[in-house]
Amino acid sequence: MIDPFGRFISYLRVSVTDRCDLRCVYCMAEDMNFLPKSEVLSLEELERLCNAFIRLGVKKLRLTGGEPLVRRGIMNLIGSLGEQVKAGTLEELTLTTNGTQLSKYAGDLARAGVKRINVSMDTLDPDTFTRLTRWGRIEKVLDGIMAAKDAGLAVKINAVALKGINNHHFDDMIAWCGQHGFDLTFIEVMPMGDLGELSRADQYLPLSEVRRDLSQRWTLTETDYRTGGPARYVRIEETGSRLGFITPLTHNFCESCNRVRLTCTGQLYMCLGQDDDADLRSVLRANEGNDDALDAAIRAAIARKPKGHDFIIDRARPAAAVERHMSVTGG
Ligand code: GTP
Ligand code: 5AD
Ligand code: SF4
Repeated sequence: MIDPFGRFISYLRVSVTDRCDLRCVYCMAEDMNFLPKSEVLSLEELERLCNAFIRLGVKKLRLTGGEPLVRRGIMNLIGSLGEQVKAGTLEELTLTTNGTQLSKYAGDLARAGVKRINVSMDTLDPDTFTRLTRWGRIEKVLDGIMAAKDAGLAVKINAVALKGINNHHFDDMIAWCGQHGFDLTFIEVMPMGDLGELSRADQYLPLSEVRRDLSQRWTLTETDYRTGGPARYVRIEETGSRLGFITPLTHNFCESCNRVRLTCTGQLYMCLGQDDDADLRSVLRANEGNDDALDAAIRAAIARKPKGHDFIIDRARPAAAVERHMSVTGG
């Protein structure tokens, strides 16, 4: 699949639920209204959609949420998609998770064919973690991460950079990730969804500043390592681990975009930072035994993929760039 800007679309991110057991302050408002179950696709329907994308050329598939591992029966979907990895029709099946359920699932994930996972953890400080997630306990996440490591999964830690909240913990995170052999990426906060009283402008920390600051204490060497995601990586010579920077605000990476996003209700978002979506659920349900209409609908959606996002964070324009929260598409 090639979009109007000549970009190959080979990466599908699938949000399997909008629900989450945490409420990170940059991601969700405290009182979220989650979707009624009747609107959410069954796991069989999600699988049929994933298969359509694989047929059309998707090689990398990432399950997201909300929190993907809180969806009941999720291992059934992961097991079937894992078969495609084993058969070679899919190059990578992976997840972005908050880690709270990993103690339970790490072994099953590895057996299903998952090789690496991204775990969202913005700090190692227990009190800050609880404040940021509103009630999360870091011990549970750390136990999960260690279970993943023991199961042989490669782990990347994702941390959203939040001014005055976690930036003074970055050195500790770099050292800890180095110790365990985990990659780490820092992410600029994106203006998605209303957060109630909280202001994005108060949270936003440009990663150009973070990098300048870190380079006073760590030797950062450029690498050309890429995962197919948006991060640009340096090697930290003192630890030997990689550090990635995801910079939608200070350094837009849309020109190399290779991905689209499916929600748990079967809406396809062609860009994280735009509102346009395509309703694949109605096509799916109207064409039970026939995949041609589904394939055509996916191709038509790809032909509408916009050039990129228009994210800005500006005190004078406090409204979010898009109304939906990040948890609708899982990043
Ligand atoms: P890797 O395969 O490890 O590179 O993962 P990834 O970075 O593609 O996925 P992950 O779920 O770990 O996402 C990390 C952050 O990158 C999240 O905050 C996502 O919202 C953000 N991100 C991923 N893709 C895009 C994108 O296309 N545009 C923007 N603006 N942000 C993105
Ligand atoms: N801006 C940037 N990243 C975000 N994430 C959630 N909300 C935001 C936001 N507003 C991150 C999570 C997770 C990934 C899927 O997206 O921390 O690592
Ligand atoms: Fe849940 Fe992830 Fe959003 Fe945090 S960032 S509330 S863990 S979906």
